[in-house]
Order: sequence, then C-alpha cells, then structure tokens
Amino acid sequence: SSILVLNGPNLNLLGQRQPEVYGSTSLADIENLCRNTARALGLSLTFEQSNSEGAMIDLIHAARGQHDGIILNAGAYTHTSIALMDALSSVELPAVELHLSNIHAREEFRHTSYIAKVAIGVICGFGAQGYDLALRAMAQKLQASG
Ligand code: DQA
Repeated sequence: SSILVLNGPNLNLLGQRQPEVYGSTSLADIENLCRNTARALGLSLTFEQSNSEGAMIDLIHAARGQHDGIILNAGAYTHTSIALMDALSSVELPAVELHLSNIHAREEFRHTSYIAKVAIGVICGFGAQGYDLALRAMAQKLQASG
C-alpha cells in the first residue's frame, strides 16, 4: 500500500517552533522516522508539507488513485477548514488525523476539528511518535479492508 503523510502550516518550523509544545524533533527527522516505519511495514510513503490550504487540497485531490490512505496533520487548518474536510470526503480515502500535541488539553479553539468528522481515527499528544503510531494504525486498517 501507498500512504501520503501530509503536514500543514507551520510544521516546516518543527524543532524550532515552541519546542515546549511540539518537541525538538525537526520535520526532516520526522520524515526519516516515517520512512523507517514505512519500510518496516512494507508501505510506500510520500511525505509532504505545505503552508497553503489550497496546495493541501490539491495534494489531497492528487492522492486519489495514487495512494491508499492519508495521514494528515493539518495544523491550525484542523480547527477552521471545511474545505479540507470536503476534500477528504471527495477522494474517499481513509484518513488518520494526527497532532503532535494533545489538542484537547490546550486552548478551547483547538478542541474542535473538522478533520475528525471524516477521519477513521485521531492520534494526538504523542509528539513525533504519533507519526509512527498513525502509520501502524493505517497499515492495519488497510490490511483489514483488503
Ligand atoms: C498541531 C496542533 C494545532 O492546533 C496547531 O495549530 C498546529 C500543530 C499539532 O500537531 O499539535 O499547528 O496540529
């Protein structure tokens, strides 16, 4: 199976950005971690980051027919973007919503997610390790659905 890991706004700054909240691991480190996990699971992996909502929507559209599942850390667009939610619904691929931080333990405005409404599951609060967990969850889901 082939998985798209898509990272949204500000995640290019991981490692430098509020390390007390998001950890000291860079996005390049996370990509390496994902590549190792994907290799161990026999998955092929595409890893992307964009600060732009429209570019993320284009990447989700392009995933149709190219990938079997999407792992999405939509950053702050999680809490605002009906357009990203609609894009996920449109491509009918299983999606796992992912966050480094535990969004439910933070500000009220981070407690709602449009992505969760169309995701098969949500992983948050485990830092960079969440990417590993999300890939494993997706691999099992894809195996179960044949
Ligand atoms: C985040 C949580 C969001 O609320 C925040 O806007 C981010 C990162 C996370 O991974 O913890 O940019 O998605």
